[in-house]
Amino acid sequence: MNTIIEPFRIKSVEPIYFTTREERVHILKKAHYNPFLINARDVIIDLLTDSGTSAMSSEQWAGVMRGDESYAGSDSFFRFEETVREITNMPYIIPTHQGRASEKILFTIMGGKGKYVLSNTLFDTTRANVEFSGAEGIDFRCPESKDPDLEAPFKGNMDADALQSFIAEKGPADISLVMLTITNNSGGGQPVSMANIKEVSRICRSYGVPIFIDACRFAENAYFIKQREKGYGSKSIPEIAQEMFSYADGCTMSAKKDAFANIGGFIAIVDELLAEKCRNLLIITEGFPTYGGLAGRDLEAIAIGLREVMDEDYLKYRIRSIEYIGEKLDKVGIPYIKPTGGHAVYLDAERFMNHIPVHEYPGQALCSALYLEGGIRGVEIGSVMFGKYAADGSLVSPPMELVRLAIPRRVYTQSHIDYVAEVIVDVYRKKQRYQGYRITHESPLLRHFTAKFEPVE
Ligand code: F0G
Repeated sequence: MNTIIEPFRIKSVEPIYFTTREERVHILKKAHYNPFLINARDVIIDLLTDSGTSAMSSEQWAGVMRGDESYAGSDSFFRFEETVREITNMPYIIPTHQGRASEKILFTIMGGKGKYVLSNTLFDTTRANVEFSGAEGIDFRCPESKDPDLEAPFKGNMDADALQSFIAEKGPADISLVMLTITNNSGGGQPVSMANIKEVSRICRSYGVPIFIDACRFAENAYFIKQREKGYGSKSIPEIAQEMFSYADGCTMSAKKDAFANIGGFIAIVDELLAEKCRNLLIITEGFPTYGGLAGRDLEAIAIGLREVMDEDYLKYRIRSIEYIGEKLDKVGIPYIKPTGGHAVYLDAERFMNHIPVHEYPGQALCSALYLEGGIRGVEIGSVMFGKYAADGSLVSPPMELVRLAIPRRVYTQSHIDYVAEVIVDVYRKKQRYQGYRITHESPLLRHFTAKFEPVE
């Protein structure tokens, strides 16, 4: 059969509260046109993030009951540790309360003034933690990633030549580490090929520079490798995952993504001395090394989720359901980053809202329109999130103005997704009605979370 169905039945449901367009006009205004300031109850389909929003399985909930809440040496920790070890083959496993806690610990030790952290694309919390330590984060994105219409299989890759030249020029001493983000979230949820991981690792090892993986979406990446890279079609997802991690000296992970957990994370490390330093910091910031910042029940949910996420029937449905949105957009010629990524669709807001100039934030305008017409919440990834001001006060924009619609795992059904596509198409047809925005209030760091806007008349 050709229909790919959701590989689960639904045992417990949560209501969606419906609002009318008229109500949403007021809600949006009250939220100062910032989706982060809208109450979740007032959202019909919430595509703000795929992080911490997964539906847990009946097995995970059973694990929650089994959770051993002992302060030290809990059974749940050992089950968690064994699972992470099996996947990564790394000996030292350090639980944390989420991805950015892992980053904070790692870069407090490995970062610092005068150091560089090189990446395919650092996620924004990773970059913030690198910069907070005093180090500088630099992205070397592969050339294919710069063309949103190009259908290349591994647009998440790092530009290995640029990496090699940078290390050759600066010398390895001041390079803290190379961080490969898989899949490449800020680069469009695009995968990184095994060949690229291997090549980046070879370069790092030839200079003695540590290589780490930001493994938030490792299973989605492994599935893309299986689908798209020669020689991997008959390998299992665990085998591909093990090979990916074999090229690294460590990894950070947010279990809020590819572990189907609502909270959690970890650091996995090969080097004993570095693990020791991380643990020392963990004790004063997160907790004792056998629970990190987590309850025993969370460790159970993560351990079970990590195995479930590598199920191929699940991954097939997951990747296909995102592709499906792309196909619907293609029928109408709606611009988005091609091909669709692992966890989200990234609408190209600059071309979508081509009557709104960049300094009036077309991405924010598109987010508002999607909410207004359909109660859909997405997030702007463009000049609101990454824009800076020049000395004369003018806006310095990032290369693209995007709106990310991230799909929570195992949460929405095909009819929800059909509805999302219908709303996007409706907004596209009526786009001339929507206007740009100006910022009326902003904070100096990560302004997108709290900024307030008003429509440009
Ligand atoms: N790395 C990547 C690639 C991420 O996508 C995230 C989170 C983190 C690290 C940080 O993990 O949230 O557990 O502290 N991404 C979420 C998102 C927030 O919406 O993409 P965290």
